[in-house]
Amino acid sequence: MNIKEKDNTYIANTYSRFPIVLTEGKGSVVFDEDGKQYIDMNTGIAVNIFGLCDDVWVEAVEKQLSALQHVSNLYYSAPDATLAEMLCERTGMKKVFFSNSGAEANECAIKAARKYAAGKKGPEYSTIITLKNSFHGRTITTLAATGQDVFHKDFLPLTDGFDYAEANNVNDLKEKVAKNKTAAIMFECVQGEGGVLPLERDFVNEIAAICQKEDILMIVDEVQTGNGRSGKLYSYMHYGVSPDIVTTAKGLGGGLPLGATMLGEKVSGVFEPGSHGSTFGGNPVCCAGAISILERIDDELLKKVCDKSKFIIDSLSGAKGVKSVTGMGLMLGIETEKDASEVISECMKNGVLVIKAKNKVRLLPALNIPDELLSKAVNVIKNACGGEKI
Ligand SMILES: Cc1ncc(COP(=O)(O)O)c(C=O)c1O
Repeated sequence: MNIKEKDNTYIANTYSRFPIVLTEGKGSVVFDEDGKQYIDMNTGIAVNIFGLCDDVWVEAVEKQLSALQHVSNLYYSAPDATLAEMLCERTGMKKVFFSNSGAEANECAIKAARKYAAGKKGPEYSTIITLKNSFHGRTITTLAATGQDVFHKDFLPLTDGFDYAEANNVNDLKEKVAKNKTAAIMFECVQGEGGVLPLERDFVNEIAAICQKEDILMIVDEVQTGNGRSGKLYSYMHYGVSPDIVTTAKGLGGGLPLGATMLGEKVSGVFEPGSHGSTFGGNPVCCAGAISILERIDDELLKKVCDKSKFIIDSLSGAKGVKSVTGMGLMLGIETEKDASEVISECMKNGVLVIKAKNKVRLLPALNIPDELLSKAVNVIKNACGGEKI
């Protein structure tokens, strides 16, 4: 059997894969098994912040790998403590819980919010209000948090205690808060899987005001938007709000599984030994890699992210076949006249890997993608959007 046949035979049928087998890559260039070269404009869905096999990250990971690969959370070790310190210093948050994925980071946030609200107001204050069209993960509880029926069907009953407000609709949000005994409001500043849609500034400020007034926790899901992708370290920083809990994953690990739930002042003392845990969470190798990533997400890099973002938006806005470009930083969605899948196939044929978000072509390039490669990729995308329909 070749690789595709073996995969189709033995791997659970949960992904519709593109018809190529990727074998190696460096930076923003990746090769398939036939040696065909592609410009990587999706970084493994917002994971490889500095591209494939980035030298600094590889060195940090390899060094830790040959020193201590895993010790369990029964012992202290340096990488997770150092990474937690860095995250707290850069965000003002007070404590970090490490896990292995975005879904787990969100599970932890939900547990923290419920435990805090139960202790403060009573166990009936358990509802988490999320937004319609959101995406928070695929475990039964984070599916419940995800405000999209399409992901719920086939898996009912989901975890109780979630309600969904319309994004950018303050009245609806207020209604949902009034109707429920609410522990927290949870949202992505840019709905990624929902179609790369940034929330309006006024709406986010209103969430902050409601949370403050009602003593409700604000949870921001930075799994996809986080770690420099938005042009700031975390996307909530664009809005001038101060969340109580911030979750992240994807880019933090740079290609190894790592989730983080950052707890602000209010909730910093919510957990005690036994409240929560994870065998692999805070794994030394993942954390050593993450330190090497976080160290390099500085003002200079963030400025470059904004410049590259502007270049993409300026190049594609108003181009033939492009209806709109939405998003923030290097997390952009292109609404196309053609079917997005058609554009994506055309790009792949011409050596550029992009993916879909709802009906849009989604771009999530490495934060350090060289300008020359970015320009080439944007040209291919532009031609794919504007070319004749297949
Ligand atoms: C905003 C957001 N939250 C949570 C998740 C789930 O992350 P993971 O797949 O690492 O569990 C994702 C994944 O796409 C996401 O985009």
